[in-house]
Amino acid sequence: MSTHEPSHIPVLTEEVLAWLAPRPGGCYLDCTAGLGGHASEIAARCPGGRLIALDRDPAAVTLASSRLAEYPHARVHHANYSELESVLDADGVSTVDGILIDAGVSSMQLDDETRGFSFQEDAPLDMRMDTSRGPTAAEFLAGVTRRDLVNMLRRFGDVGPARRIADAMLRRRERGVLSTTGDLAAAVSEALPFVQGTPVEVRTVFQAVRMALNRELASLESGIRAAIRRLHAGGRLVVISFHSGEDRVVKNLFRDLSRKQRELRPDGRVRHVIKASVKLLTPKPVVPGPAETARNPRSKSARLRAVERLAAPAPDSGA
Ligand SMILES: C[S@@+](CC[C@H](N)C(=O)[O-])C[C@H]1O[C@@H](n2cnc3c(N)ncnc32)[C@H](O)[C@@H]1O
Repeated sequence: MSTHEPSHIPVLTEEVLAWLAPRPGGCYLDCTAGLGGHASEIAARCPGGRLIALDRDPAAVTLASSRLAEYPHARVHHANYSELESVLDADGVSTVDGILIDAGVSSMQLDDETRGFSFQEDAPLDMRMDTSRGPTAAEFLAGVTRRDLVNMLRRFGDVGPARRIADAMLRRRERGVLSTTGDLAAAVSEALPFVQGTPVEVRTVFQAVRMALNRELASLESGIRAAIRRLHAGGRLVVISFHSGEDRVVKNLFRDLSRKQRELRPDGRVRHVIKASVKLLTPKPVVPGPAETARNPRSKSARLRAVERLAAPAPDSGA
């Protein structure tokens, strides 16, 4: 059991509410309930409407449900947001007025030493956001190839000495000592013996393993596409990301879906034109101000982007 009281300070709350503009009678979807911080603010602003929230972490579902208990129009489901359409279907909802994705991990997950997300404490290397299914990070690393390991460290952690660190991890794996957070942190230190103290790469290696294990970027991309399909015309999607790789996914998808796209035939002639499905509301990402980052240093890397749904495009548009 964790020795910490679960907590998470929601980031960019005023900005989320400004872009989402929840109103009485409206129907909203919070894809990342966490501890229910944003969700309770939205629920308080849509009396007579609905707030459907979800999270892939069963512990977050329990905590958010109890935080939202005072709002009878709010309900929390256990699901990955890449499956948000099944959640809406099960609730009999076809489209909604606004959707929030506050991606990544919560402070509750990072601070709970039993979850294995943090290198500050020695614990089994779990790192699953959804503790009800799937391999743990230790099981995942037991089967990964060197090539995939190097790619993963580069892609999800921007880790410079990716090969050195991958080799140190594989040496530990061979000796049967790559099953705790301490083992993983030690592998990074062993790869960089000339660094005094804890190498900065420990943080980015942990991040890379977590993002790969939980397939975070793939979920984000399919979640955004699904979210846009389920907005009414004029409905808004707000996404907060914390990592440059996540922000790139959001930025590129929003840019592509806000432009007319041409699908070409092999001879270069236009097969058909796909209409833009969204209007970009934030040409530049919205970031926290100095007061927020002073109050909550974990908000520093947050980037908010928002789009508004245009009238529904043709069914084969791929939005
Ligand atoms: C930054 S926290 C959200 C905090 C929340 N907005 C609040 O105010 O308390 C991110 C949450 O998203 C959840 N999450 C991450 N990826 C998810 C996914 N693909 N599907 C559903 N939940 C996800 C995590 O389990 C975590 O609880």
